Amino acid sequence: MKKAYRASLLRFDNAGLPVFDEDGLLVVAPDAAGRQRVVDAGSHAAVSPRHLDAEVTHLPGRILAPGFVDMHIHFPQTDIIGAPSPGLLPWLENYTFPAESKFVDPAHSREVADVFFDELLRNGVTTSLTFATSHVASVDAFFESAQRRGLRMITGKVLQDRNSPDGVRDETEQSLVDTESLIRKWHNVDRLGYAITPRFAPTSTDAQMRGAGELAAKYGDTWIQSHVAENKDEVKWARELYPKSRSYLDVYAGFGLMRERAVYAHCIYIDDEDRRLMRETKTAAAVSPTSNLFLGSGFFDFGAADRIEAPYGLASDVGGGTSFSPFHTMLAAYYVGREGQTKTGLSIPPSRLWWHHTGGAARSLGLDGVVGNLQPGCEADFLVLNPAATPLLARKTKLANTLEEMLFAMIVLGDDRLVERTVISQAG
Ligand code: GUN
Ligand code: ZN
Repeated sequence: MKKAYRASLLRFDNAGLPVFDEDGLLVVAPDAAGRQRVVDAGSHAAVSPRHLDAEVTHLPGRILAPGFVDMHIHFPQTDIIGAPSPGLLPWLENYTFPAESKFVDPAHSREVADVFFDELLRNGVTTSLTFATSHVASVDAFFESAQRRGLRMITGKVLQDRNSPDGVRDETEQSLVDTESLIRKWHNVDRLGYAITPRFAPTSTDAQMRGAGELAAKYGDTWIQSHVAENKDEVKWARELYPKSRSYLDVYAGFGLMRERAVYAHCIYIDDEDRRLMRETKTAAAVSPTSNLFLGSGFFDFGAADRIEAPYGLASDVGGGTSFSPFHTMLAAYYVGREGQTKTGLSIPPSRLWWHHTGGAARSLGLDGVVGNLQPGCEADFLVLNPAATPLLARKTKLANTLEEMLFAMIVLGDDRLVERTVISQAG
């Protein structure tokens, strides 16, 4: 059954520029797999005559927008948002590892996975590249919950066989056996995808890194996710452990862990040669501004990434990050872009921020034309936004003279209240 939604409509063209129809129409219909896809989108006047058979839902005053794509988040860190610490390494030791050790328990894993998906959807995030923990139970719980809800979601078992405390440290050979069986069990099942997940170079032995690289070559359409160059103490540690590598990022290249669908969180302390390596290998950075500001890590250099065309997109990095809300992440990205003491400061246009958290993020994940946009062919994961959700939002969005002003009002003032409804392509 064909369905149509009449409201304002935000989507992006192939160059990532915004396309906005004040009076728009989004038409969706199920494909052979029963997944709702966009079949037509544009102005109501142009699109409606082509779909006289569609059942129309009229949503006056609302904006239809693509579901947000979060390029890096840790579902098991849901409960440690806002844990203060002098920096990344003590934060990992004092909060993160103790919290993650609880995911050996399948019941705890299931409970937190459900809270996590409720929170993502309330905030309008419909796809995320997600860290689980080193426990197989955490991965199963995540995928079972995502599958029940019909979501397009990616995760993987964390690999960390050294420099990690009891409770989260895994065993080299078993960790790789577990990874391969989880790939076979979950990758490409319904809308689920597997990510090979070495935590970061300091917590994996050479043997584990090599094994991860071999699996990444054998299963070429899986994702790879890790962290790199987030914090100065971390960079120093990684350089001591791998003195022969040209750079910290190059450690991953040496193990075959840079390719399309590889995503590295942070990428703050990298140089132009690293950026070129990212561009050439189609490896993306997951820029995590609320986390970087909260943990005092540093400032991602958007200007340098753009100049070299190194792929990137936005991410919450909960629980180092402080919010599930893409509006908070986009605002923090704007602040980080503005910072001009450690790099050139710039003012990122609001539509660009929005693109980097939707279609641009999807493109960086190798999911261009699948999610993150509302062009024909895309899976119909979309949001109904209410730009009058709060008194100030109502005033500011009404006063806006341009699309950029309106998007900026939502980025600066928005949160989960703006997301009236999250519609999933394949409701479970
Ligand atoms: N580096 C290694 N592990 C982590 C993590 O869990 N969070 C962040 N922000 N950085 C990391
Ligand atoms: Zn992270």
